[in-house]
Amino acid sequence: MDKRQENKEFTVEVKKGFEEISEYYDLWFSIPFGAYADRMEKEVIFSFLEKKKYKRMIALDIGTGTGVWLIELLKRGFTTIGLDISLEMMNVAKVKLKEFDSWFLVQSDAGNLPISNDSISVVLSVTTLEFIAPVHREKILKEIYRVLAKDGLLILGLLCSTGIWGFETKIRRPLRQLIFPYTLGKFFSSKEIVTLLRKTGFKNIEFKGAVYSPTLRFQSRFLIAYLRVIEKIERKIRELPFFKEIGVFLAVKAEK
Ligand SMILES: C[S@@+](CC[C@H](N)C(=O)[O-])C[C@H]1O[C@@H](n2cnc3c(N)ncnc32)[C@H](O)[C@@H]1O
Repeated sequence: MDKRQENKEFTVEVKKGFEEISEYYDLWFSIPFGAYADRMEKEVIFSFLEKKKYKRMIALDIGTGTGVWLIELLKRGFTTIGLDISLEMMNVAKVKLKEFDSWFLVQSDAGNLPISNDSISVVLSVTTLEFIAPVHREKILKEIYRVLAKDGLLILGLLCSTGIWGFETKIRRPLRQLIFPYTLGKFFSSKEIVTLLRKTGFKNIEFKGAVYSPTLRFQSRFLIAYLRVIEKIERKIRELPFFKEIGVFLAVKAEK
């Protein structure tokens, strides 16, 4: 199968998968573990944005889904564009976005951004690159590079292949079969993403880890009761070299 066909088939399957779960997607954030993961992910992702003022600057959220991250960007003063291949996912976002101004939603494949060169201050993309066919990932990073303004910032949130879940899902295939479309996702190691970003031309690359807990099947009531304690420990260890690589979640920052 040639690369174009491989990418097309992969994208169709991913889109269908997310459309099927769009209605339930946000339930994740209402379970104790999902809420913990969300808090930790937001802390590391937005730690890359802390120092500057972004009032009225334009941010693009690629794979915006139900708008979870788009809303966070709006709260920080950005004018935002949310882009996703699935209209169903963005329909959920639309309802939540009613109370905000300064946002646009665009249905498009991330491989062909309908956006002018050098026009975006910040591109954010969380748990989306994993669902892009590996043959297509470089093209998407090139597109992001093209639309970013000079010195613009790219922030990625990725499921980490060397992290606890990456390891668990490798050894426990039956679980992988249960949570479609996540069965299609191909997790990243820090080495893989840093290599791809460098190849595309990005500079000043940094990464941090987040979420240190086994997959849901291994979580006991005991563990859930202690999530706040885990959080405190996590804040202390997540930037240490070893722990950066073994979180469930990998937050990456790069500049154009
Ligand atoms: C796991 S969800 C992440 C949604 C959101 N970023 C979040 O963290 O809650 C992945 C999203 O990527 C979108 N997606 C997958 N492939 C895409 C592509 N080729 N172009 C644009 N969006 C895509 C899916 O439709 C889905 O909404």
